[in-house]
Amino acid sequence: MALLKVTFGFTILSVLSFTGSLAHPGFSGWGGTDPIGGGGVSFGLFPEFYQFSCPQANDIVMSVLKKAIAEEPRMAASILRLHFHDCFVQGCDASILLDDSATVVSEKNSGPNRNSIRGFEVIDEIKAKLEEACPQIVSCADILALAARGSILLTGGPYWELPLGRRDSRAASLSGSNTNIPPPNSTIQNLITFFKRQGLNEVDLVALSGGHTIGVARCVTFKQRLYNQNGQNQRDETLEKTYYLGLKSVCPISGGDNNISPLDFSSPVRFDNSYFKLILCGKGLLTSDAVLFTGNIGYIMDLVRSFAEDEDFFFHQFAKSMVKMGNINPLTGFNGEIRKNCRGVN
Ligand code: HEM
Ligand SMILES: *[C@@H]1O[C@H](CO)[C@@H](O)[C@H](O)[C@H]1NC(C)=O
Repeated sequence: MALLKVTFGFTILSVLSFTGSLAHPGFSGWGGTDPIGGGGVSFGLFPEFYQFSCPQANDIVMSVLKKAIAEEPRMAASILRLHFHDCFVQGCDASILLDDSATVVSEKNSGPNRNSIRGFEVIDEIKAKLEEACPQIVSCADILALAARGSILLTGGPYWELPLGRRDSRAASLSGSNTNIPPPNSTIQNLITFFKRQGLNEVDLVALSGGHTIGVARCVTFKQRLYNQNGQNQRDETLEKTYYLGLKSVCPISGGDNNISPLDFSSPVRFDNSYFKLILCGKGLLTSDAVLFTGNIGYIMDLVRSFAEDEDFFFHQFAKSMVKMGNINPLTGFNGEIRKNCRGVN
């Protein structure tokens, strides 16, 4: 139902956007959230949003990304995570990009983000190039969405039509960042609850967790599993033995908190379905990865198996769930602003 409505909505909007986007840049269509879809499906966003106002937007994003990822392959992962941490805190509004200022308490210092979230310089470079080409047209929130999609494409993952037209917030939420982003030692029930809060279901949870097919995590985020999983100085028994021994050498019982380990050690800079294959054999890095299979919820275990067996199915569902995540509570119409600099309000 929701999917049909979205497709249909885009068809109408792509016709209307010709007049709509010229007369009212940021025209929000029938704006708001689809109450039936429940996934923050918004009619305010559509792929052709910059077709006339900045047709080269995606090319600019891709050229900066290509260079950044060639210099440091991990950057693709860092950029994808930025979009996730943006969308889970007051919607996809680039709140995560705001620095501390007289009026803003930055989300960059939250528990999940501090010493962890990265990639801001790449977003700055994209924004600077876009401001040169199309001043004050492309929002920082859309840059994050475009850059996340581009990062996945450049690391071997799927491509999809990306709804655009998000605007930027004038505020950040440090408390939202502390409470809405799931912690790495989450149980399966915790994960389901955190995602439901954003209008995302169990299929979205499993598919989007596949984002961990690229990138790394610090020792401090998985140490509990190695030394004290249950509060009784026991390791997590679901960790495969040789993998466990390897992790212990990277992550000693004391110190080494910032040592890093790949989330998918078999192909850490390649977007593929190996994350799910690893989970099946006890080699998921975080508790939140492992519990997708060890959490004993049959239909979630089945999804992990299906994604491990069928990469096309994973790619298809990942793309769908990314669109859904990207539609969480965007600012549209005359709400918010188009920042000139992603780090501060205008
Ligand atoms: C399901 C709940 C999730 C939890 C508990 C979680 C937790 C984490 C943690 C703890 C790290 C390592 C951070 C550090 O070392 O400081 C991480 C990294 C990462 N996460 Fe997640 N995450 C989740 C979902 C997602 C989603 C939905 C995406 C994107 C679709 C994502 C993308 C990433 C990426 C790409 C990295 C690596 C970043 C880098 O190497 O710079 N995660 N995640
Ligand atoms: C997760 O880690 C936090 C911080 O170390 C801790 O307070 C909490 O009890 C842990 N939760 C679980 C379910 O182990």
